[in-house]
Amino acid sequence: MTGSHVGSHGGPRVVLGVAGGIAAYKACELLRGLTESGHAVTVVPTASALEFVGAPTWAALSGRPVVADVWSAVHEVPHVRIGREAELLVVAPATADLLAKAAHGLADDLLTNTLLTARCPVLMAPAMHTEMWEHPATRANVATLRERGVHVLDPDSGRLTGADTGRGRLPHPDAILEAARDLLLRGERGTDLAGRHVVVSAGGTREALDPVRFLGNRSSGRQGQALAVAALGRGARVTLVRAHVDRPTPAGVEVVEVDSTSDLRDAVLAAAADADAVVMAAAPADFTPASASATKIKKTDDASVPSLDLVQTPDVLRELGATRPGGRGQVVVGFAAETGGDGHDVLDLALDKLRRKGCDLLVLNDVGEGRVFGRPDTEAVVLAADGAEPAPVPAGVKGALAHVVWDEVVRRLPVDRPAS
Ligand code: CTP
Repeated sequence: MTGSHVGSHGGPRVVLGVAGGIAAYKACELLRGLTESGHAVTVVPTASALEFVGAPTWAALSGRPVVADVWSAVHEVPHVRIGREAELLVVAPATADLLAKAAHGLADDLLTNTLLTARCPVLMAPAMHTEMWEHPATRANVATLRERGVHVLDPDSGRLTGADTGRGRLPHPDAILEAARDLLLRGERGTDLAGRHVVVSAGGTREALDPVRFLGNRSSGRQGQALAVAALGRGARVTLVRAHVDRPTPAGVEVVEVDSTSDLRDAVLAAAADADAVVMAAAPADFTPASASATKIKKTDDASVPSLDLVQTPDVLRELGATRPGGRGQVVVGFAAETGGDGHDVLDLALDKLRRKGCDLLVLNDVGEGRVFGRPDTEAVVLAADGAEPAPVPAGVKGALAHVVWDEVVRRLPVDRPAS
Protein backbone atom coordinates (compact mmCIF):
# COMPACT_ATOMS: atom_id res chain seq x y z
CA MET A 1 0.00 0.00 0.00
CA THR A 2 1.39 3.41 -0.87
CA GLY A 3 -0.13 5.65 1.76
CA SER A 4 -3.81 6.44 2.07
CA HIS A 5 -5.10 6.92 -1.44
CA VAL A 6 -8.49 8.38 -2.03
CA GLY A 7 -10.34 6.97 -5.00
CA SER A 8 -12.57 8.82 -7.44
CA HIS A 9 -15.56 8.04 -5.20
CA GLY A 10 -13.77 9.83 -2.36
CA GLY A 11 -13.43 6.61 -0.36
CA PRO A 12 -10.66 4.06 0.00
CA ARG A 13 -9.41 2.04 -2.96
CA VAL A 14 -10.74 -1.49 -2.86
CA VAL A 15 -9.89 -4.34 -5.21
CA LEU A 16 -12.70 -6.85 -5.62
CA GLY A 17 -11.32 -10.15 -6.88
CA VAL A 18 -13.94 -12.51 -8.26
CA ALA A 19 -13.11 -16.18 -8.70
CA GLY A 20 -15.00 -18.57 -10.94
CA GLY A 21 -18.00 -19.86 -9.03
CA ILE A 22 -21.73 -19.59 -9.51
CA ALA A 23 -21.82 -17.19 -6.53
CA ALA A 24 -20.03 -14.62 -8.74
CA TYR A 25 -23.43 -13.08 -9.44
CA LYS A 26 -23.80 -12.26 -5.74
CA ALA A 27 -20.56 -10.30 -5.92
CA CYS A 28 -22.47 -7.80 -8.10
CA GLU A 29 -24.54 -6.87 -5.05
CA LEU A 30 -21.38 -6.61 -2.95
CA LEU A 31 -19.83 -4.37 -5.61
CA ARG A 32 -22.88 -2.13 -5.58
CA GLY A 33 -22.74 -1.91 -1.78
CA LEU A 34 -19.04 -1.00 -1.90
CA THR A 35 -19.46 1.72 -4.52
CA GLU A 36 -22.60 3.10 -2.88
CA SER A 37 -20.71 3.50 0.37
CA GLY A 38 -18.10 5.60 -1.45
CA HIS A 39 -15.34 3.08 -2.17
CA ALA A 40 -13.41 3.24 -5.42
CA VAL A 41 -13.56 -0.37 -6.57
CA THR A 42 -11.40 -2.06 -9.19
CA VAL A 43 -12.83 -5.45 -10.13
CA VAL A 44 -10.38 -8.20 -11.04
CA PRO A 45 -12.31 -11.25 -12.22
CA THR A 46 -10.57 -14.50 -13.10
CA ALA A 47 -11.10 -15.95 -16.58
CA SER A 48 -13.58 -18.47 -15.20
CA ALA A 49 -15.45 -15.76 -13.23
CA LEU A 50 -16.07 -14.09 -16.60
CA GLU A 51 -17.88 -17.26 -17.71
CA PHE A 52 -20.44 -16.53 -15.00
CA VAL A 53 -20.65 -12.71 -15.12
CA GLY A 54 -19.23 -10.73 -18.06
CA ALA A 55 -16.81 -7.80 -17.99
CA PRO A 56 -19.46 -5.23 -19.06
CA THR A 57 -21.43 -5.92 -15.86
CA TRP A 58 -18.37 -5.37 -13.67
CA ALA A 59 -17.40 -2.25 -15.61
CA ALA A 60 -20.89 -0.77 -15.41
CA LEU A 61 -21.31 -1.46 -11.68
CA SER A 62 -17.82 -0.26 -10.72
CA GLY A 63 -17.68 2.67 -13.14
CA ARG A 64 -14.15 1.60 -14.09
CA PRO A 65 -12.53 -0.48 -16.79
CA VAL A 66 -12.12 -4.14 -15.96
CA VAL A 67 -8.71 -5.68 -16.38
CA ALA A 68 -8.80 -9.42 -16.19
CA ASP A 69 -5.47 -10.61 -17.48
CA VAL A 70 -1.80 -9.77 -17.11
CA TRP A 71 -1.43 -9.21 -20.88
CA SER A 72 -3.70 -6.13 -21.06
CA ALA A 73 -2.11 -2.69 -20.55
CA VAL A 74 1.26 -4.38 -19.96
CA HIS A 75 3.08 -1.01 -19.98
CA GLU A 76 1.22 -0.14 -16.74
CA VAL A 77 2.33 -3.42 -15.10
CA PRO A 78 -1.26 -3.78 -13.78
CA HIS A 79 -0.60 -6.69 -11.40
CA VAL A 80 1.87 -4.57 -9.46
CA ARG A 81 0.02 -1.26 -9.70
CA ILE A 82 -3.41 -2.62 -8.69
CA GLY A 83 -1.99 -4.57 -5.75
CA ARG A 84 0.15 -1.69 -4.47
CA GLU A 85 -2.59 0.92 -4.70
CA ALA A 86 -5.22 -1.16 -2.90
CA GLU A 87 -6.19 -0.33 0.67
CA LEU A 88 -8.29 -3.48 0.90
CA LEU A 89 -8.49 -6.58 -1.26
CA VAL A 90 -11.72 -8.56 -1.11
CA VAL A 91 -12.10 -11.90 -2.89
CA ALA A 92 -15.72 -12.99 -3.29
CA PRO A 93 -16.41 -15.70 -4.08
CA ALA A 94 -13.12 -17.36 -3.13
CA THR A 95 -13.29 -20.83 -4.67
CA ALA A 96 -11.38 -23.86 -3.38
CA ASP A 97 -8.99 -23.41 -6.33
CA LEU A 98 -8.38 -19.73 -5.54
CA LEU A 99 -7.76 -20.50 -1.84
CA ALA A 100 -5.28 -23.21 -2.84
CA LYS A 101 -3.42 -20.89 -5.21
CA ALA A 102 -3.32 -18.09 -2.65
CA ALA A 103 -2.07 -20.44 0.08
CA HIS A 104 0.75 -21.67 -2.15
CA GLY A 105 1.66 -18.35 -3.74
CA LEU A 106 0.80 -19.43 -7.28
CA ALA A 107 0.38 -16.53 -9.68
CA ASP A 108 -0.95 -17.52 -13.08
CA ASP A 109 -3.45 -14.70 -13.66
CA LEU A 110 -4.04 -11.08 -12.69
CA LEU A 111 -5.94 -11.83 -9.46
CA THR A 112 -3.37 -14.25 -8.06
CA ASN A 113 -0.55 -11.88 -9.07
CA THR A 114 -2.38 -9.02 -7.34
CA LEU A 115 -2.70 -11.13 -4.19
CA LEU A 116 1.09 -11.44 -4.09
CA THR A 117 1.80 -7.75 -4.66
CA ALA A 118 -0.85 -6.35 -2.28
CA ARG A 119 0.34 -5.28 1.18
CA CYS A 120 -3.11 -4.23 2.43
CA PRO A 121 -5.59 -6.32 4.47
CA VAL A 122 -7.10 -9.19 2.47
CA LEU A 123 -10.62 -10.51 3.04
CA MET A 124 -11.77 -13.76 1.44
CA ALA A 125 -15.37 -14.93 1.29
CA PRO A 126 -15.36 -18.61 0.31
CA ALA A 127 -18.10 -20.36 -1.64
CA MET A 128 -18.00 -23.99 -2.69
CA HIS A 129 -19.66 -27.33 -2.11
CA THR A 130 -19.58 -28.66 1.44
CA GLU A 131 -17.30 -31.55 0.52
CA MET A 132 -14.76 -29.15 -0.97
CA TRP A 133 -14.90 -26.83 2.08
CA GLU A 134 -14.47 -29.78 4.43
CA HIS A 135 -11.70 -31.46 2.41
CA PRO A 136 -8.40 -31.64 4.38
CA ALA A 137 -6.64 -29.80 1.53
CA THR A 138 -9.00 -26.83 1.77
CA ARG A 139 -8.90 -26.90 5.59
CA ALA A 140 -5.10 -26.73 5.45
CA ASN A 141 -5.13 -23.92 2.87
CA VAL A 142 -7.58 -21.86 4.95
CA ALA A 143 -5.46 -22.44 8.08
CA THR A 144 -2.32 -21.31 6.22
CA LEU A 145 -4.01 -18.18 4.93
CA ARG A 146 -5.41 -17.31 8.37
CA GLU A 147 -1.99 -17.82 9.97
CA ARG A 148 -0.64 -15.30 7.49
CA GLY A 149 -3.24 -12.76 8.55
CA VAL A 150 -5.68 -13.20 5.67
CA HIS A 151 -9.25 -12.76 6.90
CA VAL A 152 -11.09 -15.83 5.62
CA LEU A 153 -14.79 -15.72 6.45
CA ASP A 154 -16.61 -18.95 7.22
CA PRO A 155 -19.13 -19.76 4.49
CA ASP A 156 -22.83 -19.85 5.37
CA SER A 157 -24.93 -22.97 5.55
CA GLY A 158 -27.94 -23.38 3.31
CA ARG A 159 -28.98 -24.14 -0.23
CA LEU A 160 -26.04 -24.72 -2.57
CA THR A 161 -25.99 -24.91 -6.37
CA GLY A 162 -28.54 -27.50 -7.40
CA ALA A 163 -30.76 -29.21 -4.88
CA ASP A 164 -28.22 -29.89 -2.14
CA THR A 165 -27.80 -27.93 1.10
CA GLY A 166 -24.93 -27.60 3.57
CA ARG A 167 -22.03 -25.37 4.56
CA GLY A 168 -20.42 -23.65 1.63
CA ARG A 169 -22.72 -20.81 0.61
CA LEU A 170 -21.15 -17.43 0.03
CA PRO A 171 -21.82 -15.28 3.14
CA HIS A 172 -24.54 -12.70 2.45
CA PRO A 173 -23.15 -9.71 0.48
CA ASP A 174 -24.14 -7.38 3.37
CA ALA A 175 -22.14 -9.53 5.81
CA ILE A 176 -19.10 -9.37 3.49
CA LEU A 177 -19.60 -5.62 3.18
CA GLU A 178 -19.72 -5.22 6.97
CA ALA A 179 -16.53 -7.27 7.36
CA ALA A 180 -14.83 -5.25 4.59
CA ARG A 181 -15.78 -1.93 6.14
CA ASP A 182 -14.57 -3.17 9.49
CA LEU A 183 -11.15 -4.08 8.10
CA LEU A 184 -10.78 -0.55 6.77
CA LEU A 185 -11.89 0.99 10.08
CA ARG A 186 -9.80 -1.28 12.28
CA GLY A 187 -6.56 0.22 11.04
CA GLU A 188 -3.58 -0.75 13.17
CA ARG A 189 -5.59 -2.07 16.12
CA GLY A 190 -4.65 -5.71 15.67
CA THR A 191 -6.10 -8.55 17.71
CA ASP A 192 -6.19 -6.96 21.17
CA LEU A 193 -9.32 -8.95 22.09
CA ALA A 194 -7.78 -12.35 21.30
CA GLY A 195 -8.60 -14.93 23.97
CA ARG A 196 -11.51 -12.82 25.26
CA HIS A 197 -15.20 -13.63 25.17
CA VAL A 198 -17.50 -10.66 24.67
CA VAL A 199 -21.28 -10.44 24.67
CA VAL A 200 -23.16 -7.84 22.67
CA SER A 201 -26.91 -7.28 22.65
CA ALA A 202 -28.61 -5.67 19.67
CA GLY A 203 -32.02 -4.74 18.31
CA GLY A 204 -35.36 -3.95 19.87
CA THR A 205 -37.36 -6.38 21.97
CA ARG A 206 -41.09 -6.93 21.50
CA GLU A 207 -43.64 -7.39 24.25
CA ALA A 208 -46.70 -9.32 23.10
CA LEU A 209 -50.14 -7.80 23.63
CA ASP A 210 -51.83 -10.71 21.92
CA PRO A 211 -50.75 -13.28 19.29
CA VAL A 212 -50.55 -10.58 16.56
CA ARG A 213 -49.68 -7.31 18.32
CA PHE A 214 -46.72 -6.16 20.34
CA LEU A 215 -45.12 -3.13 21.97
CA GLY A 216 -41.77 -2.43 20.31
CA ASN A 217 -39.32 0.27 19.36
CA ARG A 218 -37.35 1.57 16.39
CA SER A 219 -33.96 0.05 17.12
CA SER A 220 -32.44 -1.40 13.92
CA GLY A 221 -29.66 -3.35 15.63
CA ARG A 222 -27.00 -1.79 13.38
CA GLN A 223 -24.85 -0.54 16.26
CA GLY A 224 -24.87 -3.93 18.00
CA GLN A 225 -24.01 -5.70 14.75
CA ALA A 226 -21.15 -3.27 14.14
CA LEU A 227 -19.87 -3.94 17.69
CA ALA A 228 -19.99 -7.69 17.11
CA VAL A 229 -18.15 -7.48 13.78
CA ALA A 230 -15.53 -5.13 15.24
CA ALA A 231 -14.86 -7.40 18.26
CA LEU A 232 -14.64 -10.47 16.04
CA GLY A 233 -12.09 -8.74 13.84
CA ARG A 234 -10.04 -7.88 16.93
CA GLY A 235 -9.86 -11.56 17.84
CA ALA A 236 -12.67 -12.01 20.38
CA ARG A 237 -15.11 -14.86 20.63
CA VAL A 238 -18.40 -13.02 20.22
CA THR A 239 -21.90 -13.87 21.36
CA LEU A 240 -24.49 -11.59 19.81
CA VAL A 241 -27.88 -11.67 21.53
CA ARG A 242 -30.21 -9.98 19.10
CA ALA A 243 -33.86 -9.10 19.06
CA HIS A 244 -35.60 -8.57 15.72
CA VAL A 245 -32.62 -7.45 13.71
CA ASP A 246 -33.45 -7.53 10.02
CA ARG A 247 -29.86 -7.96 8.85
CA PRO A 248 -27.79 -11.03 7.96
CA THR A 249 -25.95 -12.59 10.87
CA PRO A 250 -22.26 -11.63 10.89
CA ALA A 251 -20.10 -14.58 9.77
CA GLY A 252 -18.18 -16.12 12.69
CA VAL A 253 -20.35 -14.67 15.45
CA GLU A 254 -22.45 -16.90 17.71
CA VAL A 255 -25.96 -15.49 17.40
CA VAL A 256 -28.78 -16.02 19.89
CA GLU A 257 -32.14 -14.73 18.62
CA VAL A 258 -34.57 -13.45 21.26
CA ASP A 259 -38.01 -11.87 21.31
CA SER A 260 -38.88 -10.10 24.58
CA THR A 261 -36.86 -8.27 27.23
CA SER A 262 -37.24 -11.24 29.56
CA ASP A 263 -35.78 -13.56 26.86
CA LEU A 264 -32.97 -11.09 26.27
CA ARG A 265 -32.17 -10.97 29.98
CA ASP A 266 -31.94 -14.76 30.22
CA ALA A 267 -29.76 -15.06 27.11
CA VAL A 268 -27.43 -12.19 28.06
CA LEU A 269 -26.96 -13.39 31.64
CA ALA A 270 -26.25 -16.94 30.48
CA ALA A 271 -23.66 -15.78 27.93
CA ALA A 272 -22.18 -13.24 30.36
CA ALA A 273 -21.22 -15.94 32.89
CA ASP A 274 -17.80 -16.43 31.26
CA ALA A 275 -17.55 -13.13 29.39
CA ASP A 276 -14.81 -10.53 29.80
CA ALA A 277 -17.10 -7.75 28.64
CA VAL A 278 -20.80 -7.19 27.97
CA VAL A 279 -22.06 -4.36 25.79
CA MET A 280 -25.77 -3.64 25.97
CA ALA A 281 -26.49 -1.96 22.64
CA ALA A 282 -30.02 -3.38 22.49
CA ALA A 283 -33.11 -1.32 23.13
CA PRO A 284 -35.09 -3.57 25.47
CA ALA A 285 -38.73 -2.55 25.92
CA ASP A 286 -39.11 -1.04 29.41
CA PHE A 287 -42.72 -2.11 29.87
CA THR A 288 -44.65 -5.25 29.13
CA PRO A 289 -48.38 -6.00 29.39
CA ALA A 290 -49.25 -7.38 32.83
CA SER A 291 -50.81 -10.28 30.94
CA ALA A 292 -50.81 -10.96 27.22
CA SER A 293 -54.10 -12.06 25.72
CA ALA A 294 -54.00 -15.64 24.43
CA THR A 295 -56.38 -14.69 21.62
CA LYS A 296 -56.52 -11.66 19.36
CA ILE A 297 -58.05 -8.67 21.15
CA LYS A 298 -61.19 -7.83 19.16
CA LYS A 299 -62.55 -4.42 18.29
CA THR A 300 -66.09 -3.89 19.59
CA ASP A 301 -68.97 -1.93 18.00
CA ASP A 302 -69.41 0.39 20.97
CA ALA A 303 -66.12 2.19 20.16
CA SER A 304 -64.64 1.20 23.52
CA VAL A 305 -60.88 0.63 23.68
CA PRO A 306 -59.12 -1.95 25.83
CA SER A 307 -57.09 -0.59 28.71
CA LEU A 308 -53.50 -1.71 28.95
CA ASP A 309 -52.02 -2.70 32.27
CA LEU A 310 -48.25 -2.50 31.99
CA VAL A 311 -45.51 -3.67 34.31
CA GLN A 312 -41.79 -2.94 34.14
CA THR A 313 -39.46 -5.38 32.45
CA PRO A 314 -36.18 -6.46 34.09
CA ASP A 315 -33.42 -3.88 33.73
CA VAL A 316 -30.68 -6.08 32.28
CA LEU A 317 -27.90 -3.49 32.35
CA ARG A 318 -28.56 -2.63 35.98
CA GLU A 319 -28.51 -6.31 36.90
CA LEU A 320 -25.23 -6.82 35.03
CA GLY A 321 -23.73 -3.76 36.72
CA ALA A 322 -24.78 -4.98 40.16
CA THR A 323 -24.00 -8.68 39.85
CA ARG A 324 -21.11 -8.88 37.32
CA PRO A 325 -21.91 -12.48 36.30
CA GLY A 326 -18.47 -12.87 34.73
CA GLY A 327 -16.60 -11.83 37.88
CA ARG A 328 -15.36 -8.56 39.31
CA GLY A 329 -13.12 -7.64 36.39
CA GLN A 330 -15.93 -7.92 33.85
CA VAL A 331 -16.41 -4.69 31.92
CA VAL A 332 -20.05 -3.66 31.49
CA VAL A 333 -21.06 -1.09 28.88
CA GLY A 334 -24.43 0.55 28.38
CA PHE A 335 -25.89 2.80 25.72
CA ALA A 336 -28.11 5.76 26.43
CA ALA A 337 -30.36 7.10 23.73
CA GLU A 338 -31.53 10.46 25.01
CA THR A 339 -33.58 13.22 23.47
CA GLY A 340 -33.23 15.77 26.30
CA GLY A 341 -36.10 18.25 26.69
CA ASP A 342 -38.23 19.36 29.65
CA GLY A 343 -35.27 21.34 30.93
CA HIS A 344 -33.05 18.23 31.09
CA ASP A 345 -29.63 18.41 29.50
CA VAL A 346 -28.70 15.26 27.53
CA LEU A 347 -25.29 14.93 29.23
CA ASP A 348 -26.75 15.28 32.76
CA LEU A 349 -29.34 12.61 31.98
CA ALA A 350 -26.59 10.28 30.77
CA LEU A 351 -24.31 10.87 33.77
CA ASP A 352 -27.23 10.10 36.02
CA LYS A 353 -27.91 6.92 34.03
CA LEU A 354 -24.26 5.85 34.31
CA ARG A 355 -24.53 6.05 38.10
CA ARG A 356 -27.95 4.38 38.32
CA LYS A 357 -27.02 1.48 36.07
CA GLY A 358 -23.69 0.78 37.77
CA CYS A 359 -21.88 0.16 34.48
CA ASP A 360 -18.27 1.04 33.64
CA LEU A 361 -18.93 2.89 30.40
CA LEU A 362 -21.99 4.54 28.94
CA VAL A 363 -22.21 5.52 25.29
CA LEU A 364 -24.44 8.53 24.90
CA ASN A 365 -26.29 8.95 21.61
CA ASP A 366 -28.32 12.08 21.18
CA VAL A 367 -31.39 10.79 19.31
CA GLY A 368 -33.35 14.03 19.21
CA GLU A 369 -34.97 15.00 15.88
CA GLY A 370 -34.68 11.58 14.20
CA ARG A 371 -30.91 11.24 14.60
CA VAL A 372 -29.14 7.87 14.88
CA PHE A 373 -31.99 5.27 14.94
CA GLY A 374 -31.91 3.14 11.79
CA ARG A 375 -29.28 5.40 10.23
CA PRO A 376 -25.84 4.20 9.18
CA ASP A 377 -24.17 7.21 10.84
CA THR A 378 -23.89 8.04 14.50
CA GLU A 379 -22.35 10.59 16.85
CA ALA A 380 -21.66 9.87 20.51
CA VAL A 381 -19.83 10.56 23.75
CA VAL A 382 -18.35 7.72 25.81
CA LEU A 383 -18.72 8.39 29.55
CA ALA A 384 -16.69 6.44 32.11
CA ALA A 385 -17.51 5.62 35.74
CA ASP A 386 -13.82 5.76 36.69
CA GLY A 387 -13.80 9.51 36.21
CA ALA A 388 -11.92 9.51 32.89
CA GLU A 389 -12.70 12.49 30.69
CA PRO A 390 -15.74 11.88 28.42
CA ALA A 391 -14.49 10.73 25.02
CA PRO A 392 -16.37 12.46 22.20
CA VAL A 393 -16.70 10.38 19.04
CA PRO A 394 -17.21 12.52 15.93
CA ALA A 395 -20.06 11.80 13.53
CA GLY A 396 -19.23 8.74 11.51
CA VAL A 397 -20.30 5.22 10.71
CA LYS A 398 -21.40 2.93 13.53
CA GLY A 399 -18.38 0.70 12.92
CA ALA A 400 -16.08 3.59 13.83
CA LEU A 401 -17.91 4.12 17.13
CA ALA A 402 -17.76 0.36 17.74
CA HIS A 403 -13.96 0.45 17.60
CA VAL A 404 -13.80 3.39 20.02
CA VAL A 405 -16.03 1.45 22.44
CA TRP A 406 -13.71 -1.58 22.23
CA ASP A 407 -10.67 0.69 22.67
CA GLU A 408 -12.20 1.90 25.94
CA VAL A 409 -13.12 -1.66 26.98
CA VAL A 410 -9.62 -3.01 26.21
CA ARG A 411 -8.14 -0.22 28.34
CA ARG A 412 -10.19 -1.43 31.31
CA LEU A 413 -9.83 -5.21 30.95
CA PRO A 414 -7.74 -6.70 33.75
CA VAL A 415 -4.47 -7.95 32.25
CA ASP A 416 -4.24 -10.98 34.51
CA ARG A 417 -7.73 -12.22 33.71
CA PRO A 418 -7.49 -15.80 32.46
CA ALA A 419 -8.35 -16.11 28.78
CA SER A 420 -11.79 -17.69 28.27
N1 CTP B 1 -31.51 -1.50 29.23
C1 CTP B 1 -31.59 -2.76 29.81
N2 CTP B 1 -32.79 -3.24 30.23
C2 CTP B 1 -33.91 -2.52 30.07
C3 CTP B 1 -33.84 -1.24 29.49
C4 CTP B 1 -32.63 -0.75 29.08
O1 CTP B 1 -30.57 -3.41 29.95
N3 CTP B 1 -35.06 -3.03 30.47
C5 CTP B 1 -30.20 -1.00 28.82
C6 CTP B 1 -30.05 -0.67 27.34
O2 CTP B 1 -29.60 -1.77 26.59
C7 CTP B 1 -29.02 0.45 27.35
C8 CTP B 1 -29.27 1.13 28.70
O3 CTP B 1 -29.99 0.19 29.51
O4 CTP B 1 -27.70 -0.06 27.37
C9 CTP B 1 -30.03 2.39 28.64
O5 CTP B 1 -31.23 2.21 27.94
P1 CTP B 1 -32.32 3.35 27.94
O6 CTP B 1 -33.54 2.88 27.20
O7 CTP B 1 -31.69 4.64 27.50
O8 CTP B 1 -32.56 3.45 29.50
P2 CTP B 1 -33.77 3.19 30.42
O9 CTP B 1 -33.39 2.19 31.45
O10 CTP B 1 -34.95 2.88 29.61
O11 CTP B 1 -33.91 4.58 31.17
P3 CTP B 1 -34.88 5.83 30.90
O12 CTP B 1 -36.24 5.29 30.83
O13 CTP B 1 -34.60 6.67 32.08
O14 CTP B 1 -34.40 6.45 29.63
